[in-house]
Amino acid sequence: MDFTPATLAIALGCPEAEAALTPHWALGCAARPAGLPAFLDPATIPARRAALDLDAACDTALVAMAVEVAGDPALAATAWYLHWRLWHCPHPCCPASFPLAGRLGNRTGTFWLLLTLDFAARLGEVHQARGYPAAVTTDCLDQVRGYLDNWRKTPGHAADAVGCHPGQACWLRTYLDFPYVRLGRLAYQLMPFNGAVAAYRHRRSGAVVALARDRLRIDGDGLVARVGQPSAWTTTLGHDARGAHGHPVDPAGTVQRRRVDLAASDWALILAKDDPILSIHIPPGGAMDLAAVQDSFRRAQEFFARHHGDRPARALWCSTWFLDPRLHRLLPASANPLRLQRCLYLHPVDPWDGGLWFVFLQDTSDPARLPRTTSLQRALADFLAGGGRWNCGGAFIPLDQAGTLEEGRYAAGFAAALA
Ligand SMILES: CC(C)(COP(=O)(O)OP(=O)(O)OC[C@H]1O[C@@H](n2cnc3c(N)ncnc32)[C@H](O)[C@@H]1OP(=O)(O)O)[C@@H](O)C(=O)NCCC(=O)NCCS
Repeated sequence: MDFTPATLAIALGCPEAEAALTPHWALGCAARPAGLPAFLDPATIPARRAALDLDAACDTALVAMAVEVAGDPALAATAWYLHWRLWHCPHPCCPASFPLAGRLGNRTGTFWLLLTLDFAARLGEVHQARGYPAAVTTDCLDQVRGYLDNWRKTPGHAADAVGCHPGQACWLRTYLDFPYVRLGRLAYQLMPFNGAVAAYRHRRSGAVVALARDRLRIDGDGLVARVGQPSAWTTTLGHDARGAHGHPVDPAGTVQRRRVDLAASDWALILAKDDPILSIHIPPGGAMDLAAVQDSFRRAQEFFARHHGDRPARALWCSTWFLDPRLHRLLPASANPLRLQRCLYLHPVDPWDGGLWFVFLQDTSDPARLPRTTSLQRALADFLAGGGRWNCGGAFIPLDQAGTLEEGRYAAGFAAALA
């Protein structure tokens, strides 16, 4: 049956799905085979599931979902389109959510897990072409098992549920579009820096100082003001022959109102917008102690120098929920994320309310409904219940210092340089 995005959305019983079905629709339809696509063939499921190291017990639910989808023209057309957007569309843009709950209820996750099963084959092709070792590919494939665990840990889901969240399924495409690998505890994506700060190193002392980017609206706490909320002041950043002039970012993650001048004769620019960086991602599963982070950082230095030496990264950089500079008010100083914070140079980011999904595995807009199983969940749920908004945060470390982590290094250098 031929659908348009509008008729398919109606056939799904969900007119609001039309917008998500529209991008590149004709291209996707042209690529659709006449018969059953391989990803919906039940006979292919056990091998593709095993390639992702998911437990064999998943097969029953995955096969049942494939049969149900193949037998329903609207679901089959939707599955083809989303699968094509995820793995084959030349424009990487799979929708991170799609309104299928009315049709599939809490089996929506099984539908999405079915779509992810081609990750092993697609990643294998890409990694082989890039010349990566097979062991690195295997470690990256682990991501899907982490997503299955997240689905099972999600409040309201059974401990043996079979599925994954759509936003996580869609993220897998990033592994194809960028040099992006897991090395030990952490994963790294080689990409241009977004320019959140400009960083300088003192030519003699080695101290590092970051200046806030230009025209950032700052609130009374030194964090980036939210859209629609009044800001206390706005940053400026300028460069001329004499050097750089702007507002310093305290390595603990806030912007200072004073202006400083970093003389070009004393300070070298070491990180600027569009410079290649390794963006750090934290796959789910397991703690993040400093020894594991240190080991992973060293592996990243070595791996990217060997495989992408033509694009030398200037820094490791990360933007995530546990880099919010207020985290120290909620956890003991010994908590792993806080120890890592003290090894990095923090900076504020545009506030992102969605960041705490990774702590609660659900929307956090109603604090009363949040799970309170761990000390972190209890502290953050209390913070939100008290009217607080979690901004998240960013941090960087120059690549040449990532092999030797030191808590307090950037705080000490900053204090000495700008005293
Ligand atoms: C980042 C991460 C590895 C840190 O965990 P960690 O090293 O165990 O941190 P700590 O040992 O300091 O944990 C302190 C407390 O917070 C809890 N905690 C840590 N991360 C948690 C999380 N994501 N969800 C719920 N609780 C968490 C711990 O269980 C511990 O609670 P307890 O005192 O009740 O035992 C962990 O949060 C994680 O795996 N997160 C998922 C992936 C993620 O967040 N990626 C970022 C995407 S932008």
